[in-house]
Amino acid sequence: MTKIYIGMSADLLHPGHLNIINEARKLMQNGDELIIGLLTDRAIASYKRLPYMTWEQRKTIIENVKGVTTVIPQETLDYVPNLLKIKPDFVLHGDDWKTGIQAQTRQRVIEIMSQWNGKVIDIPYTEGISSTKLNKALKEVGTTPEIRCHRLRRLLESKNLITICEAHDGLSGLIVEHTNINEAGRAIEFDGIWISSLTQSAAKGKPDIGYLDTTSRMETLNDILEVTTKPIIYDGDNGGPQEHFVFTVKTLERLGVSAIIIEDKVGLKKNSLFGTEVFQEQDSPEDFAQKINAGKQAQISDDFMIIARIESLILEQGIQDAISRAKIYLDAGADGIMIHSRSKTFDEIKEFTTLYNQLPNRKPLVVVPSSYPQVTEQELLENNINIVIYANHLLRAAYPAMVKTAESILRNHRCKEASDEYCMKIKDIITLIPGAK
Ligand code: SPV
Ligand code: MG
Repeated sequence: MTKIYIGMSADLLHPGHLNIINEARKLMQNGDELIIGLLTDRAIASYKRLPYMTWEQRKTIIENVKGVTTVIPQETLDYVPNLLKIKPDFVLHGDDWKTGIQAQTRQRVIEIMSQWNGKVIDIPYTEGISSTKLNKALKEVGTTPEIRCHRLRRLLESKNLITICEAHDGLSGLIVEHTNINEAGRAIEFDGIWISSLTQSAAKGKPDIGYLDTTSRMETLNDILEVTTKPIIYDGDNGGPQEHFVFTVKTLERLGVSAIIIEDKVGLKKNSLFGTEVFQEQDSPEDFAQKINAGKQAQISDDFMIIARIESLILEQGIQDAISRAKIYLDAGADGIMIHSRSKTFDEIKEFTTLYNQLPNRKPLVVVPSSYPQVTEQELLENNINIVIYANHLLRAAYPAMVKTAESILRNHRCKEASDEYCMKIKDIITLIPGAK
């Protein structure tokens, strides 16, 4: 019996994939096995965007393709663990893997297959089909509230550290959605969007004191939802009175937001980074736990997450207070904890995290390194932190650029200097958003 192995993601299945499977069928006779090593979400997320379809959905499709006899998970980009188990006679792959980052993977496959005289066959790449273009088209189609809401939980299952960036309007939403870089063959982009109360207030020229009402916040949220597909975490301040909070949960869930973060404070809202410079009062753990619980009862599906934000370090109540609150909030049903700090170093968060990671009912941990920006994603990973939120950086970058531009126009009594030094080209701004022409 001949065994053939093909590793693939099979998210956007196109004629290129079918061509490889057809080439495999040419090598097969009755009783032979064509095994698809279907890359798991985790394997795919290690080098590019999470696939649109879940592993189970992708499996349903690929196992119904003519010729495929077995579908098994391939847990890593590396083929070797599966190859050692199966010892196939052939591995087939598109010949695009001869170059770039995949060339190393190919080399390892050739070496391991030679141990049992297995052969690697490179199938000429099918021209005219680009996964990148298909991906772009899919982004234009958009997403649904259910798919978007579920995406944060999928990310938590498939990535060790999720990166989230702030957006405060449609344009900054587009930036978080589309900005990507290539790092040694891996496509790096933000995993999701933070709807910050600070930047959303500032963008409307208002202080971050809970002045924007829910209707106004939903309008901005809607602008962002319209032009993005990534999961969204909403900054809910303290969630308001419990009676209001249950409505906010339902509204956000219906819109496809993945999570709300609420902080354990009462009274007039003040930004946490003021710390003890201003009067800020922490909620009693029992009352806050009750609010979390009421929110959990209000949501319809299992996907929506309520993340409890602990302000004990902000208010100088100490690590033990923070940990005891974490336990209470998790017991009340919180789906995760955000621990905030205004320390200039990562030390107190690290100390909290060491204790937090030992809790038996530990859930995802979120941090916001605004006051300790030197911390690296690698350090966060090493401390098992699950989500990092870059909470205000796009607005903080835009504001000084706008001020410089305004000053330059005033100083020069014309706009040439500002146009040349600080502004993008007219041609670029009028074509920035697709559909303008
Ligand atoms: C926000 O971005 O609005 C936050 C984080 O809540 S912080 O401003 O640090 O409180
Ligand atoms: Mg806030």
